[in-house]
Amino acid sequence: MRLYFLRHGIAEDLASSDFARELTPRGRRRVKKSAAVMQALGLQPKRIYSSPRLRSRQTAELVAQALGMDVDLAESVNFGFDLADARRLCANCEPDAEIMFVGHNPDMSWVVNELTGVNVAMKKGGLARVDAPIAEADAGELVWLIAPKVFDALAENGQSKIPPAPTQKLPTTQAALHELIRQRWSPVGFDRERPIKRSALMSILEAARWAASSSNLQPWRFIVARRQDKGEFAKLLSVLREGNIAWAQHATVLMVACSRKFRKEDIPNRHAGHDLGLAVGQMVLQALSQGIYVHQMGGFFPDKAREVYAIPDDFEPYTCLAFGYRGTELGHLAEAQQARDAAARERQPLAEMVFSGGWAQVADFLD
Ligand SMILES: Cc1cc2nc3c(=O)[nH]c(=O)nc-3n(C[C@H](O)[C@H](O)[C@H](O)COP(=O)(O)O)c2cc1C
Repeated sequence: MRLYFLRHGIAEDLASSDFARELTPRGRRRVKKSAAVMQALGLQPKRIYSSPRLRSRQTAELVAQALGMDVDLAESVNFGFDLADARRLCANCEPDAEIMFVGHNPDMSWVVNELTGVNVAMKKGGLARVDAPIAEADAGELVWLIAPKVFDALAENGQSKIPPAPTQKLPTTQAALHELIRQRWSPVGFDRERPIKRSALMSILEAARWAASSSNLQPWRFIVARRQDKGEFAKLLSVLREGNIAWAQHATVLMVACSRKFRKEDIPNRHAGHDLGLAVGQMVLQALSQGIYVHQMGGFFPDKAREVYAIPDDFEPYTCLAFGYRGTELGHLAEAQQARDAAARERQPLAEMVFSGGWAQVADFLD
């Protein structure tokens, strides 16, 4: 899970009660700036839980507004918020969900400390990101802590440099779709800093393993190279065509996807490509369910792959695959590629591809 801990902005000293203390005008301005930076950074919490105290609620609302979300008021994020409260609020979340808590000190700093073992002093308006498989003591890693002054500097200097690449490109559909299918697309912009954990990679491969296949032959094979294995990663990049290397070098995991062309001995398996495609399709959706995007590539040199990896003759290397978390900082990519990530997605209408009764006879139920 990716957990964000945000301390409320600067608030007035006096009010009718502590509960009713509002953000000062300066506090509001600063939180608005921070919220704009959070949006530009591509923060996408699934939930924003805020303490009901007014200064915290106002902070959460300004952030939620910038991110296009709503705020959930949670009494447990009020004074006394602790790790057990965080755990309860995360109980039904997906393993890769992003959750934000907005509240008070010292609780925010203490929870970060309990999760990561790192002593932090959160200033008003400061934000910490902790990556943790579960909200348990010492299970997390403090990925960054942004002080309000840093937010100010980012807002003033950096924002225009962050291209407005969308993190999702939702299609216009002719019928309702499962959310995972609706959200899938093939980015060229990957987050170069965020590793794919072994457990996530295992789930992606397991999804391929459980695909259907003709006679259950499971003809697929995957050659995998992870960014941290530098030599292997470079080796796999070397089989890609230049246009793909330009962006795929920033992915986190690369694969060559192969399939066995024969059922047994020299009886051809007509379904080898079909079955591999199905296994890859499952991988792609499993990956996205964990927040990881996949970009498939036909642009590679199969003969070179065969040579580099000693792929036997009865197997065909069909495609290569690039995996990674979506990155919104695309400055390292050429303009054309940045534009590609921002472009709308297009498809032929169903009437071009769904027939009934004979070839090219449009199925009447489509009307
Ligand atoms: C078998 C296959 C080969 C592909 N080859 C490449 C490729 O070499 N380079 C590339 O940038 N995209 C490649 N793509 C991605 C497609 O261009 C992309 O899926 C298509 O434009 C639809 O966009 P979407 O996936 O974002 O919906 C490939 C996709 C598939 C399924």
